Amino acid sequence: MSSEVNNQEKQSEYVENIAGKHLLLGVTGGVAAYKAAEFARLMTKAGVTVHAVMTESACRFVGPVTFQSLTGQPVYTDLWNTNLENNMAHIQLSRHADMILIAPASANFIAKLANGLADDLLATLCLARDCPLMIAPAMNKQMWENPATQRNIQSLVRDGVKILGPANGEQACGEVGMGRMLDVEALYFAVQQALSGDLARAPQLQGKRIVITAGPTYEPIDPVRGITNLSSGKMGYAIAQAAMESSAQVTLISGPTCLKSPAVTEMIPVLSALDMFEAVKAKAMDSDIFISVAAVADYRIAESSQQKIKKSAQKLILELEPNVDILQYVADRPNPPFCVGFAAETHDLERYATKKRKQKKLPLMVANQAQETLGTDEAALILFDDAGKHILDKALKRIQARKLIRHIAVLYTEYQLQKKNNG
Ligand code: CTP
Repeated sequence: MSSEVNNQEKQSEYVENIAGKHLLLGVTGGVAAYKAAEFARLMTKAGVTVHAVMTESACRFVGPVTFQSLTGQPVYTDLWNTNLENNMAHIQLSRHADMILIAPASANFIAKLANGLADDLLATLCLARDCPLMIAPAMNKQMWENPATQRNIQSLVRDGVKILGPANGEQACGEVGMGRMLDVEALYFAVQQALSGDLARAPQLQGKRIVITAGPTYEPIDPVRGITNLSSGKMGYAIAQAAMESSAQVTLISGPTCLKSPAVTEMIPVLSALDMFEAVKAKAMDSDIFISVAAVADYRIAESSQQKIKKSAQKLILELEPNVDILQYVADRPNPPFCVGFAAETHDLERYATKKRKQKKLPLMVANQAQETLGTDEAALILFDDAGKHILDKALKRIQARKLIRHIAVLYTEYQLQKKNNG
């Protein structure tokens, strides 16, 4: 069985079937329009009827024929199409849609949506819609950071529009920063959840600030050697991606890994536990949720050498001193974020995980068997919280990550309510 089929099968374990649904895909002017074509292909493959509606500037980036070929459906570009019954494309199209996704959503189109303009087919049918609307912004970082765009985004959030991304990273203009459209996989999952009705049932993390640590730390002995923990970073990166899919703002603080950076709001690479501690102090204290996935080295070399240590026939004794427990530090602050810990153990998993949860006063501890999880793409997890234990049978890490984010969203919402009730 190919891994794609295998992954899709596993994914369908918890996301309902979306075949037969109708998606209206709005494409506006931006280089990321080519990613929308791949997204349309995947949705069509899943049995969704995709009607693409393109603005005039979108057609300058990708031809309508591309979307027509990939979806097997006519592509709409014109408010004044005389081939349509009553010339009412804007009403007809939105009447049949289960939801609308605008990807990419340009700054200009976002401004139109926020102000209720209706000067082309796509803007008109968004105004005439009777179904949920999601947008995946994509633009240059200055345009995204401009107060006008931020004001427009806030208006749309208030209007109940779901904002997917954007992410930080390399941009088509050559700059690096916020404004990149979310990856196709993240869009696919967010839309799949929305179409299956899962999103309406799931508590929302939209706009919540989530800080995640991932990977190992590296503690230098000298400029060419160091001690580290075994950790691929796969689980932490998958959690960061799943948090992005739930429309949170994600800061990923990562020790050295071989993984490609996921499309997150902010990526902070670090090396040692001390570096990670500084980054966490700067970012986690005013976050809503802190997820500590990193395999932080518990000790560092007391005095690392500035020069390469030369070998000799003598024993080499290294003195280690303890690193700060980063998670414990955050959880002990007054009014801490909602803290989630990870415990990878080789034995007595449940005993150690519950002990650590109590010791660190965490609402949620995620436990896994170290030898089965390290470096692999799959993991079996046990979640410990006030309600007891929840078993997530072995599955792909990115599937587990989505389940975990959902669990965190439920608990976080309950904690917020409790906090409010306790005054
Ligand atoms: N952790 C941390 N800083 C450290 C050590 C651990 O933030 N210096 C966090 C990890 O990211 C994880 C949790 O604490 O979320 C548990 O880490 P783990 O290594 O399993 O446990 P320790 O508390 O270090 O205890 P031990 O190594 O004795 O098992």
